[in-house]
Amino acid sequence: MDEFRLTEHKLFDREREIADSLPAIFAILQTRGFNLHRTFTNLDLNHLNTIFVSVGFPKRDPEKIKIALQHTDSLLWIEYTKTQKPVAFARATGDGVFNAIIWDVVVDPSFQGIGLGKALMERLVEELVVEKGIWNIGLYAEGRVVGFYRDLGFAADPDGIRGMVYSSKQKKT
Ligand SMILES: CC(C)(COP(=O)(O)OP(=O)(O)OC[C@H]1O[C@@H](n2cnc3c(N)ncnc32)[C@H](O)[C@@H]1OP(=O)(O)O)[C@@H](O)C(=O)NCCC(=O)NCCS
Repeated sequence: MDEFRLTEHKLFDREREIADSLPAIFAILQTRGFNLHRTFTNLDLNHLNTIFVSVGFPKRDPEKIKIALQHTDSLLWIEYTKTQKPVAFARATGDGVFNAIIWDVVVDPSFQGIGLGKALMERLVEELVVEKGIWNIGLYAEGRVVGFYRDLGFAADPDGIRGMVYSSKQKKT
């Protein structure tokens, strides 16, 4: 029991540490021509769709993407100011108090490997945990990115609990 509390306390310290470091990280990104946005106003959905397709996600109807974003509780994207286009994106849906699920984490291939994905994910987790008090955050990870999420504190099958999915055969874009 004591050990459990200690772990929980340590976890919170880690999140606080990340939260404290984020303003400096985004200040540096700003000097490099990147801006963080928290709403989808000014987000070019067609360009976002192009990025989704370029990393292997299915191409989706922009009107449906808009509806999905209208029903999204937390949304972050990074704009490259030179082109005013999105280069990184992530969003989370949920019940607002207990649970959230992260979707559509993507970085434009031309901008991968320079810290944008990590900065965006840390900012999203900080918003969910520190700002909204949500402790249970899930996501679906393709095998090739499991290491990326593990380094951010996500665990596969925590305590042996397996995620299960019902995926309709009638799935449409
Ligand atoms: C996965 C993705 C979001 C990472 O974004 P990124 O901006 O390229 O990653 P970063 O530059 O922020 O990397 C942060 C750290 O994660 C590591 N990392 C990046 N991609 C990784 C991967 N696929 N597996 C393991 N580690 C990875 C980096 O080496 C870096 O490590 P460091 O902090 O020790 O230097 C991006 O590569 C992407 O959009 N991939 C295609 C779409 C996708 O698969 N999305 C996930 C859907 S499940």
